Amino acid sequence: MDARNASASAPPPIKGFTFIRCLGRGGMASVWEARQHDPERTVAVKVLNEDITSRPKEVDAFYSEAKTAGSLVHPNIVSVFEVGYQSGCYYYVMELAAGYDTGKWLARKGRLAEADVLTVAESVGVALEFASKTLGVIHCDIKPANIMVDGDGMVRITDMGLARFRRTADNEYINGTPAYMSPEQASGATALDERSDIYSLGATIYHLLTGKELFSGTDDEVMECQRTKPAPDIRAANPAVSEACARLVARFLAKSPADRPQTWAEALAMIRAALANPGGRSVSGQKGQGRVAPALSAASSTAPASFWLYTALAAALAFAIAFAIARFW
Ligand SMILES: Nc1ncnc2c1ncn2[C@@H]1O[C@H](COP(=O)(O)OP(=O)(O)O)[C@@H](O)[C@H]1O
Ligand SMILES: [Mg+2]
Repeated sequence: MDARNASASAPPPIKGFTFIRCLGRGGMASVWEARQHDPERTVAVKVLNEDITSRPKEVDAFYSEAKTAGSLVHPNIVSVFEVGYQSGCYYYVMELAAGYDTGKWLARKGRLAEADVLTVAESVGVALEFASKTLGVIHCDIKPANIMVDGDGMVRITDMGLARFRRTADNEYINGTPAYMSPEQASGATALDERSDIYSLGATIYHLLTGKELFSGTDDEVMECQRTKPAPDIRAANPAVSEACARLVARFLAKSPADRPQTWAEALAMIRAALANPGGRSVSGQKGQGRVAPALSAASSTAPASFWLYTALAAALAFAIAFAIARFW
């Protein structure tokens, strides 16, 4: 990659790519918009921090998992094109997701509308049900920053490549982000299943609807709370949340996996029931279509009904005038 156009902290060059700009930095990597030379296209490249190269177990897990995740093709999952190692850096090349992540959306709005949050949750559930059914893959890092929304309101999950697989789970590596980790994940359990991701989605919904994370403190303190402290009542933080949605969040955030929805099918049924509830109804009436309300997405092309009424009246008037002139002549 040619780092000419990137900032001083760009990773070393990787053949076949030109860095354009840094899209963001997370705990273990930075993400770059880049131009791929062959095939010629704009992509996102995630480059792992150098310190990870000294942890061979984690690197092995990353490598094989990202490769397997590359075979997941789904409209709600950002595709992974390629995984590689060059100039001392591990990286993976993925589809460049347009729009912004829900963490940035939340930062702009303070809190998101219930219909939008439930619609986002539905897309996440559909994508993770697909990943679980086709490859037995779970995500392990569901959080607002890993959920992208584009200008059409389409939702896509990123970082599927860093998911931990049930069969090849690395006993010593806790993957995930403390604020959204399930109790079993925060305890270092190895046999995680989709119920762990369902908990993380519950923590994500809580954050998006209240503007607050479930627990505050250092990473260690938050992980201890995830393991032991009951989830706070979402309606205490935001009384406008509907009862159906509050029940859903409480179920998703149950400490014991046995008390949560057992499968994505069950979780999705709860999300859809909450969406059908008056509190889950979108202002724009777009509920249940897998997209967030256009009014809240980056761009809206929906013309209001009054626009079409005035256009029809103007056309009828023009026609009447033309008809009268034709008769007069
Ligand atoms: N495929 C992608 N396309 C566009 N932007 C992305 C993509 N993947 C990640 N990003 C952006 O880069 C930021 C940093 O990503 P990452 O390193 O995964 O950290 P984290 O997910 O912990 O915030 C994300 O918050 C997101 O806004
Ligand atoms: Mg990410």
